[in-house]
Amino acid sequence: MAVGAGAAAFRKRRDVLLYCPIMHTLLSSAQLAEGIDRLAAAVRHDGGRPPLTVIGVLTGSIVVVADLIRRLAGPVRLGMAWASSYRGTATAPGRLDLRLDLLPDVTGHDVLLVDDIFDSGRTLEALVGELHGRGAARVRTLVLLRKEGRAEVAMEPDFVGFEIPDVFVVGYGLDFDGQWRHLPYLAALDADDIARAGPAPAAARA
Ligand code: IMP
Ligand code: MG
Repeated sequence: MAVGAGAAAFRKRRDVLLYCPIMHTLLSSAQLAEGIDRLAAAVRHDGGRPPLTVIGVLTGSIVVVADLIRRLAGPVRLGMAWASSYRGTATAPGRLDLRLDLLPDVTGHDVLLVDDIFDSGRTLEALVGELHGRGAARVRTLVLLRKEGRAEVAMEPDFVGFEIPDVFVVGYGLDFDGQWRHLPYLAALDADDIARAGPAPAAARA
């Protein structure tokens, strides 16, 4: 589903918290819930061999995973991988770090890899490779959001909740400099919000 025409379409929302930067609501809680319903229905109809092993990409996917698995028919196994390509106040991806020690055994299992957002696509591409390398029988990928015009990889996620413009978003699990994951809706940070947060530390841009 395409969302909005761009930043001009975002509704301003100043009532989050007193010290909150001004943010623009991109997707409301109700819209996000409808998107998760739609994604869960698509996964339920996708077939495959039970149990489904759902792997969430920490940290941003935790809210999506928690809402999604409660809408699946089961049986479901749950595991986590950790990936990071953003540092501090940087809004462009840096080097990709992966930690896979929390992964369950996926040998011979159907896997659903879940992330919050598909930006360059490098995180999901690397993790899909790892899961195939560990002998997963089938790997499907699901993202809540896909940013327009940013992909740097050939792969496409199998399930996409919402197509969004190329803006930096926070809330519903997504952060900026470690904050705002707790917002129950999705908000876009504009250039002023980002400038107010200060420049990214040099290491952050590596
Ligand atoms: P990719 O590897 O470039 O696709 O980046 C995916 C990861 O970057 C996601 O799992 C997020 O953690 C992070 N990310 C990308 N865009 C945003 C954003 O707009 N806000 C917050 N995190 C983002
Ligand atoms: Mg992430």
